Amino acid sequence: MHTIKPIITADGSSSLFVPELNEHYHSTNGALQESRHIFIDHGMHYFHKNNPEIDTIHIFEMGFGTGLNALLAWEFSQKENLKIHYTTIEKYPVENRVIHELNFGKILTTANAKETFETLHTAPWNQEYRIDNFTLKKIEGDMLNYNPPKPIDVVFFDAFAPDLMPQLWSVDVFSKLFNCMNFNSVLTTYSAKGDVRRNLITAGFTVKKLAGPPGKRHMLHATCSTL
Ligand SMILES: C[S@@+](CC[C@H](N)C(=O)[O-])C[C@H]1O[C@@H](n2cnc3c(N)ncnc32)[C@H](O)[C@@H]1O
Repeated sequence: MHTIKPIITADGSSSLFVPELNEHYHSTNGALQESRHIFIDHGMHYFHKNNPEIDTIHIFEMGFGTGLNALLAWEFSQKENLKIHYTTIEKYPVENRVIHELNFGKILTTANAKETFETLHTAPWNQEYRIDNFTLKKIEGDMLNYNPPKPIDVVFFDAFAPDLMPQLWSVDVFSKLFNCMNFNSVLTTYSAKGDVRRNLITAGFTVKKLAGPPGKRHMLHATCSTL
């Protein structure tokens, strides 16, 4: 795909920069704190808190990229002793030599984080792979012609920016996801753009603007009910 350059963000965690798109994979204010805030705290933790009786949470991620969100979801499953089924799609898998330059496995204090980060990347594509109580399924493909799995409890919507890839933030894509999502399920994303909010509402979601991670005013939290 494009040339990719590893960088260090303001909280000391890695990210990647794509010069041709002038786009980063995460916020330069801190990749780790951004992913934790948007996807773990307002996505997974929110769902688990409101549905404590569900012992296997089904997550779908748009854009596997560096695997940071998958690593944090695995960490959450360890801490909460929860089963996670994690499906993620990626059109342009990041090369191994670039993955080796990322520091996520080293900066997390959870036991086995480093080994798990490597396993997330060496796990085969397009088939299920079990790591502890975390089942990973990485799909190598294009979200635009992919039918998401059913059921989904939590969506980590982590595409490149809507200005760069508006087709991914469309009513079509959001409707495909909405139709696979359980009652009480949640989608979170870093973008709080008006078009994104409107497209989510048109697809059927109830949408709230929440405070974003440090350096970002807002993020979006979209539910399939009025929890
Ligand atoms: C903002 S990055 C985030 C990646 C990841 N969640 C992370 O934490 O590193 C967006 C990702 O979406 C992927 N992507 C772009 N277009 C796609 C498409 N049409 N279908 C699937 N993935 C796509 C990119 O290659 C990139 O890895």
